Amino acid sequence: MKINIRSSRADDYRPCEELVRDAFWDLYRPGCVEHLILHQARTSPDLVLDVIAETETDLLGALVATRAEVVDSAEVAREVLYLGPLAVRPDHQGRGIGSQLMSHALAKATELGFGGAFLYGDPGYYARFGFLNAATWAVTTPDGLNFDAFMGVELRPDGLTGVTGRLLESSAFEVDPSRLIEFDDGFTPREKHILPGQFGQ
Ligand SMILES: CC(C)(COP(=O)(O)OP(=O)(O)OC[C@H]1O[C@@H](n2cnc3c(N)ncnc32)[C@H](O)[C@@H]1OP(=O)(O)O)[C@@H](O)C(=O)NCCC(=O)NCCS
Repeated sequence: MKINIRSSRADDYRPCEELVRDAFWDLYRPGCVEHLILHQARTSPDLVLDVIAETETDLLGALVATRAEVVDSAEVAREVLYLGPLAVRPDHQGRGIGSQLMSHALAKATELGFGGAFLYGDPGYYARFGFLNAATWAVTTPDGLNFDAFMGVELRPDGLTGVTGRLLESSAFEVDPSRLIEFDDGFTPREKHILPGQFGQ
């Protein structure tokens, strides 16, 4: 299957939000928030990359990346990239499309001069791109936490040397619960389920 990766255009926005909603629905929580985050990222000054994967006829995947900061104990902030949401249309997962999107984004981020990138995701998937536990650089969540799903990658040798502290994501990741309900109401109604593997389950 020939896949084209390109920057998204305005007419891709809504189909991408639907794809992201389909891919994340009930995955980490009943329903999902990632389609709203994508929507917010696209109007954020922090947006760096907004790419889609397509065939001649179908949209198959989407990935955005935003600027984030790692702030150390002296409140010195260093810019890094935050990757995600990344999503592949559920009926096309496992065919290398997510890998192509991620490889494309990492190459672009390197070209843009970012020293490193972070994300939350499954280590079983992201290790293949060189991601390591963020604790490698003593980078934590805003609450000072580390866990396997919180990972980073250097985009050049020593690209994250001296980058230590709390990772603060773009405000595009702030989800207002009432805004989420209002936003999700604009999509095809879908039942939410509490499932094993979700946060807190
Ligand atoms: C995760 C996701 C983006 C991967 O894209 P994809 O196109 O399906 O993945 P690829 O075809 O590039 O890679 C397939 C490989 O990744 C593995 N893989 C896919 N999703 C995985 C996951 N969540 N955890 C661990 N491994 C995973 C597959 O087992 C396969 O392994 P193999 O190469 O050893 O056979 C896609 O499955 C998706 O959209 N999932 C739902 C949303 C999501 O979880 N997004 C990422 C959150 S950070």
